[in-house]
Amino acid sequence: MTDQEQIISKDIVSYLKTQKEKSFLRFITCGSVDDGKSTLIGRLLYDSKLVYEDQLNAIKNDSKKFGTQGGEIDFALLVDGLAAEREQGITIDVAYKFFSTSKRKFIVADTPGHEQYTRNMATGASTANLAILLIDARHGIQVQTRRHSYIASLLGIKSIVVAINKMDLADYSQYTFNSIEEDFRSFSKSLGFDHIRCIPISALNGDNITTKSERMPWYQGSCLLQHLETVDVNSNQNDGEFRFPVQWVNRPDLNFRGFSGTIASGQVNVGDEIIVIPSGQKSKVKKIVTMGNDLEYARKHQSVTLTLHDEIDISRGDLICGRSHPAQQSNQIQAHILWMAEKHLFPGRGYLLKTINKTVPATVTSLKHKVNVNDFSKEAGNILKLNEVGLCNIYLDEPIAFDPYSNNRQTGSFILIDRQTNDTVGMGVINFSLRRAANIVWQNTQVGKTQRAEQKHQKPVILWFTGLSGSGKSTIANLVERKLFDIGRHTYLLDGDNIRHGLNKDLGFTDIDRVENIRRISETAKLMVDAGLIVLVAFISPFTAERNDARCTVNKDEFVEIYINTSLEEAEKRDVKGLYAKARRGEIKNFTGIDSEYQAPHAPEIEINTLSLSAEEAAMKIIDYLQKNEFIVRTES
Ligand code: ADX
Repeated sequence: MTDQEQIISKDIVSYLKTQKEKSFLRFITCGSVDDGKSTLIGRLLYDSKLVYEDQLNAIKNDSKKFGTQGGEIDFALLVDGLAAEREQGITIDVAYKFFSTSKRKFIVADTPGHEQYTRNMATGASTANLAILLIDARHGIQVQTRRHSYIASLLGIKSIVVAINKMDLADYSQYTFNSIEEDFRSFSKSLGFDHIRCIPISALNGDNITTKSERMPWYQGSCLLQHLETVDVNSNQNDGEFRFPVQWVNRPDLNFRGFSGTIASGQVNVGDEIIVIPSGQKSKVKKIVTMGNDLEYARKHQSVTLTLHDEIDISRGDLICGRSHPAQQSNQIQAHILWMAEKHLFPGRGYLLKTINKTVPATVTSLKHKVNVNDFSKEAGNILKLNEVGLCNIYLDEPIAFDPYSNNRQTGSFILIDRQTNDTVGMGVINFSLRRAANIVWQNTQVGKTQRAEQKHQKPVILWFTGLSGSGKSTIANLVERKLFDIGRHTYLLDGDNIRHGLNKDLGFTDIDRVENIRRISETAKLMVDAGLIVLVAFISPFTAERNDARCTVNKDEFVEIYINTSLEEAEKRDVKGLYAKARRGEIKNFTGIDSEYQAPHAPEIEINTLSLSAEEAAMKIIDYLQKNEFIVRTES
């Protein structure tokens, strides 16, 4: 029986009472793969007698079979139960373990240590109050240590334990310990940690884990568990002001109208004055309803239903705040982004930004600088790669309610989502609202799109031609424009080669430049649709993301994607401009199809196979489509 089980069997009521009153510490362990993270946590659980008999027996057996300790108990197996799944490539994000001692309750986020798992570390860190950074005494501070320290700091962790592990392999040397401690303290100066404690340990042998090690008498401080049980983290646990994201409007009958959700931060009391964002409506809290009974007050993490004194309009996604310190609102923010995807972050590309209560389309308008995680210096850059961190200006299609991350970790953070795949690709912490956002207001014009289009007797639309260079986009688009013009339609043809002589003459052919090229042209095409025109866009537009962004700039029925499908082989054979030959000779870099990607559309409205149709036939096919779908009237042709 474990100690806890004995206490529980004697007096369960007082056990539960003390459990409830105990303080909580959420911490994260970080380190490189072989630094001994899992062994450390396993040892912590084992030595604190927190492992159940059956678990222990299983581990003893497994240690003989799979362990790395020559038949001795391999503590890592306690934590790495999912190792098999890991090997099979099943991504586990973060494994949270709960345990408690007589002094405190703990939740530890164990995150895989490979560099590609930085995002897991960040996910764990975003809710932790303390980070244990493991360093192998033989190797000292590594790039990973610096990276993890930076991310811990970025995500608001103020309390750090530097666990200098494998002291048994470093002769329990005080000199080694001292020099690593010195290194750590000096490089982490700029990271703003309030509290750093360095502890020499051997997770494998249990030195300084739950009891003080006799092998390192020179170390005067407390052992790891004792430190975790006593370290003061409440002062940096910034609880924040009252923030309540409404998840559900609860209206079972006409007499009851409550707003349900989980309190993100702060406390709410009956009678508190509140304000709803974004509407700005005000009221007072009438009741705090829960499953059991009504409460006088409720705090962070509690799920409650609030009723208010006034009948005001509140819906899912609104944020209820205390009236004296409401959250801010903005559609332009500055934030640090940690990029977590293989596909790079491109300023100009559209993503979805998800905050605690809302998901909105967003674009990074500029990458101010990247952060070098080795020395925390600022570096110029125009894209973010996997695991890179950058300071970005972000434009949102709709305003969000937020707080700066330094004031509130819940309402100050967000994730970025890829619009096509729905994958989480980035994580961000908000610094502040960009002031210019508040100063620019949309001006309504007296004459609108509908009137402009009616005057021209037409339905405005973007005909978006995409395909390889030399596929025939320009030729076919020209023919289509001619036919439309001849029947009196008002058109404009935006052609890649031509626009690159003027508006986009500053852009080249790197991925980032192509993203910007298409972004500008989407905006231009949108303005032309607003002017009531039929706009023909003939650009390679190689990336699905930008073509989809272009589609999103106008209404659903105002965008027709036309894929001019010519194989690379065929386009290269024609090589009208002689560019393929040059690209093959290496005289042109980043040439589409050769050393730059072309992502073919999956479901274009029209697909033209140029091997089976002549340019004239292709143009007729497009005109047919426009007639059938009532963009132009049949009698006009
Ligand atoms: S896009 O990829 O950004 O959409 P865009 O349509 O504007 O390209 O321009 C493509 C035209 O630029 C091609 O038709 C070709 O004439 C010319 N060009 C010059 N260099 C390149 C290159 N590296 N890749 C593709 N096209 C190039």
